[in-house]
Amino acid sequence: MTDITIRPESFEDLRGIDIVNISAFEEEDEARLVTAIRHSPVYLPEFSLVAENHGRIVGHLMMFLARLDQQDTRIDILALAPMSVLPSHSHRGIGSGLITAALEQARKQGFPAGVVTGYPDYYSRFGFKPAYLKKLDCNLPAEKETVLALELKEGVFDKAGTIIYPQVIHQFYEMSR
Ligand SMILES: CC(C)(COP(=O)(O)OP(=O)(O)OC[C@H]1O[C@@H](n2cnc3c(N)ncnc32)[C@H](O)[C@@H]1OP(=O)(O)O)[C@@H](O)C(=O)NCCC(=O)NCCS
Repeated sequence: MTDITIRPESFEDLRGIDIVNISAFEEEDEARLVTAIRHSPVYLPEFSLVAENHGRIVGHLMMFLARLDQQDTRIDILALAPMSVLPSHSHRGIGSGLITAALEQARKQGFPAGVVTGYPDYYSRFGFKPAYLKKLDCNLPAEKETVLALELKEGVFDKAGTIIYPQVIHQFYEMSR
């Protein structure tokens, strides 16, 4: 992580962010998703983080607004997607640095929980656990083992509930089918 700066995205970074996403995922869908989220109501500029190395964008992570519905309450939570590191820069802790910075910001802003749909082995390092273990459903057509949740405020998962992903993510799932 030497010479890596993690900071919120700025307008000048947009092309670099596209390049990182296309290189990491080897397709353009995730870069399109980032643009779609940026133009949607769930976009939070301070949660679109870049990792910069000597002026080059080498990693990117986005968290956006999602919801947790429990009985008669609805609370704002954060969802993570996508995240990417240039293949030439992977295995150096850049992904971990991005997640750690995002979660620190989430706690600072008082978000009670984070969710992600992805590799359980990777995200468990940061405390994410399968959501179904906490009796949480998800409104996405994702494999239940890949829906992961992290409690940021103690007790937030004490009640069963449903993670509600926003429309922009549902459109992405439909498009990628
Ligand atoms: C996943 C990704 C963001 C990790 O970035 P990174 O900077 O290499 O991550 P870190 O250096 O912090 O951590 C690397 C560790 O993550 C592990 N890891 C990477 N991908 C993993 C996966 N799919 N499942 C489990 N572990 C994984 C590696 O084994 C590595 O462990 P090691 O260093 O002990 O060998 C990066 O590999 C990437 O962009 N992948 C392609 C896009 C992608 O799959 N994004 C995540 C979607 S959920």
